Amino acid sequence: MAEQLVDKFNRVVDYVRISVTDRCDFRCVYCMSEEMTFLPREQILSLEEIQLIATAFVELGVKKIRLTGGEPLVRNGVAQLVGNIAALPGLKELNMTSNGSQLPRLASELKAAGLNRLNISLDSLNPQRFKELTRTGNLETVLAGIQAAKQQGFSHIKLNAVILKGRNDDEILDLINYIRQNELDISFIEEMPLGQISEHDREQTFMSSDEIRTLIQAQFPIEKIDHTSGGPSEYWRFNDGHKSRVGFISPHSHNFCGSCNRVRLTAEGKLLLCLGNEHSVDLREVVRQNPGDLEPIKQAIRDAMLIKPERHYFNLAQEVKILRFMNTTGG
Ligand code: 5AD
Ligand code: SF4
Repeated sequence: MAEQLVDKFNRVVDYVRISVTDRCDFRCVYCMSEEMTFLPREQILSLEEIQLIATAFVELGVKKIRLTGGEPLVRNGVAQLVGNIAALPGLKELNMTSNGSQLPRLASELKAAGLNRLNISLDSLNPQRFKELTRTGNLETVLAGIQAAKQQGFSHIKLNAVILKGRNDDEILDLINYIRQNELDISFIEEMPLGQISEHDREQTFMSSDEIRTLIQAQFPIEKIDHTSGGPSEYWRFNDGHKSRVGFISPHSHNFCGSCNRVRLTAEGKLLLCLGNEHSVDLREVVRQNPGDLEPIKQAIRDAMLIKPERHYFNLAQEVKILRFMNTTGG
């Protein structure tokens, strides 16, 4: 029998999200503050180190890997990394979450390297609004990136939209129309209290998945389906038979920790056992102490399973307890 990672609560961990960089060409208001300091080069894992850790995970039974950031595609050589990880025997799916800005340039290379699926963040279809929410992003480039990914034949491309009340909640139906026209899926995400931001008050802009769904139902009747992507999204389909799917990621309103199958690796090589807790293990230290050696990494990962917390507690009304920003956490 091949080895499996199992935690104290008998959850099998077969999914790893790897942040390949904390850097990003955008400064989304819910993700970053305007002035960000990024990690110095020597503190982040080299591409070789990332590959070694990915190999250790796959040998430990991990079936699915997602590359995230920051923005993964701003790191040089990431397509090569995709190719190397995609080739690991036993890995079933290699996916990426991207803001889309580099996809016009890189979609074909990523497809050729063996990337399976893409999630692309898109919170607004209004150029001015898009600029306000991302601070430095350009809507036209991202839309071109989505089309480039479609042209390369990526299937089930999924958009991620973080909905903030009073900011982009009036675009929910526009986003639904857009995914239907372009045969995409979408997940609506509740904002999580990761990192101290000052741009808006998260309690005031909070919009629950239930509210979003009610708004959609009024125009496009949808019903819940059993489909799972192995993630925390609940999926719904259109009653009119349209094949786009609508997902809801609700870290506040629906607790999905009981079926958690994942851990995260930050760009600096910290293995995070839970998005909403600070529990972590420094894999960079292990890799750098034992260059090129898989076994010590595998043992550190096995040991880490013992400290994976049972669940997270997010509370918007309290001070931010998790000081990590999403870009260092790895979406
Ligand atoms: N809460 C919820 N989602 C967030 N993202 C970034 N920061 C937050 C946050 N604080 C989203 C991005 C992207 C995904 C990787 O995570 O919009 O779609
Ligand atoms: Fe960059 Fe994604 Fe954070 Fe926006 S949400 S700043 S695109 S990492």
